Amino acid sequence: MNNRERWRFYKRATLMFFLAAVTLTVVHRGSIDMKSRFELERQVRMHVSDGAEPSAALKEEPTFLAGAKQFWNIAVQRQNLHHQQQSELLPTAPAGEPSSTEGLSPTTWDVTSLNCSPNLNLSHQPWFQDLASNFQQFLLYRHCRLFPMVFNHPEKCSGEIFLLIVIKSVATQHDRREVIRKTWGKEQVLDGKRVKTLFLLGRPSNEAERENHQKLVEYEDKIYGDILQWDFLDSFFNLTLKETHFLKWFHTYCPGVRYVFKGDDDVFVSVENIFEYLESSKNEKNLFVGDVLVKAKPIRKKENKYYIPEALYNETYYPPYAGGGGFLMDGILARRLDRAANTLELFPIDDVFLGMCLEVLHVTPTKHNAFKTFGLVKNRKSRLNREPCFFKNMIVVHKLLPLELMHMWDLVNSDLVCSQKVELL
Ligand SMILES: *[C@@H]1O[C@H](CO)[C@@H](O)[C@H](O)[C@H]1NC(C)=O
Ligand SMILES: *[C@@H]1O[C@H](CO)[C@@H](O)[C@H](O)[C@H]1NC(C)=O
Ligand SMILES: *[C@@H]1O[C@H](CO)[C@@H](O)[C@H](O)[C@H]1NC(C)=O
Repeated sequence: MNNRERWRFYKRATLMFFLAAVTLTVVHRGSIDMKSRFELERQVRMHVSDGAEPSAALKEEPTFLAGAKQFWNIAVQRQNLHHQQQSELLPTAPAGEPSSTEGLSPTTWDVTSLNCSPNLNLSHQPWFQDLASNFQQFLLYRHCRLFPMVFNHPEKCSGEIFLLIVIKSVATQHDRREVIRKTWGKEQVLDGKRVKTLFLLGRPSNEAERENHQKLVEYEDKIYGDILQWDFLDSFFNLTLKETHFLKWFHTYCPGVRYVFKGDDDVFVSVENIFEYLESSKNEKNLFVGDVLVKAKPIRKKENKYYIPEALYNETYYPPYAGGGGFLMDGILARRLDRAANTLELFPIDDVFLGMCLEVLHVTPTKHNAFKTFGLVKNRKSRLNREPCFFKNMIVVHKLLPLELMHMWDLVNSDLVCSQKVELL
């Protein structure tokens, strides 16, 4: 090695070390920061995809609205991709799949103890040794798929429910849950149809404060009785566990639920528009609608938060999937998704994982322009992101902090006069 090479090597090593440190910090940090970074970076990822670098991100560009003109002319866009036949049956199931039918699903959460040790077989394999530590951690515990519940509320699903709203949250986000309960997540009866709301939590991620955070969650749940909590760590890669646990919970307790809205705790949602949309789609089978990405490419740049090594996924494209910020699905489909999920290995990105489950069922998710889970317009500072007439016609908009959400909610629900009618639904 000459001096120059040595210098280059040294630089690269430093950079790698720095990245590893940052990744670890992000994963281990308090969950608030982790989540907002996660979402910010997702936006960045979307923006990158507009640029010239094809390998950087997603091939299919989302329909961003460039200006006010396009904004007002926005039209319903419902892609029924490939018109795939929507088969009722799972393809030939791999060995070990529980060939359960609706009638045979358990009626309680029957997981009471956790006995899951790391899969040390992996550690001898060279491809595993090459992976970054967060992926190693993910793979070592990937086979641990069932965790006990800390707080459960089966009573939430008793009787006939038209819409069940479930929101991914973490222990420390009390204020977000508080605002949601007061605004779009309010439990109500609309047009004679019941709407119920639940929050999905794992264990608090902040090790030093875990006991305190848990106490607060316990107190909050005593007051509101709307928290489902499982005994796994709330971390970035464990979001998929939250998905599978919810699907299993739903399959177990909610035979009378017609539709499910699942989303993040920092989005704006219009339940009225959801109702309107569902009314117009009531004959649709396998309804699954959201901000759908088609032909998204796995990100192969190590420094990206969404980096996926080929050892974990070696295909060119992800199957179509809906951004996890907010999507709507039929209850019957949600039950089938639980079964489909059991046939697949867990994948670290939760919304992509759900796309994989849909693929197993040969169901293609529908894209709808009223779901804006990757941001409203390209320019995050744009005035449109604060325009109530815009929000009035949306189903989901990412992303608002509690006070902004409260403010926007008040505006949208005041005697708002919008100069032009936007036909979205
Ligand atoms: C590890 O390997 C042993 C022996 O091959 C096998 O019995 C065991 O099931 C493996 N463990 C896991 C978690 O896959
Ligand atoms: C997911 O949660 C389990 C149980 O708390 C934990 O052992 C595991 O390390 C977590 N996985 C990741 C990738 O954070
Ligand atoms: C891709 O991964 C699958 C499953 O991990 C494996 O069976 C297959 O051989 C891999 N294909 C290539 C081209 O590496």
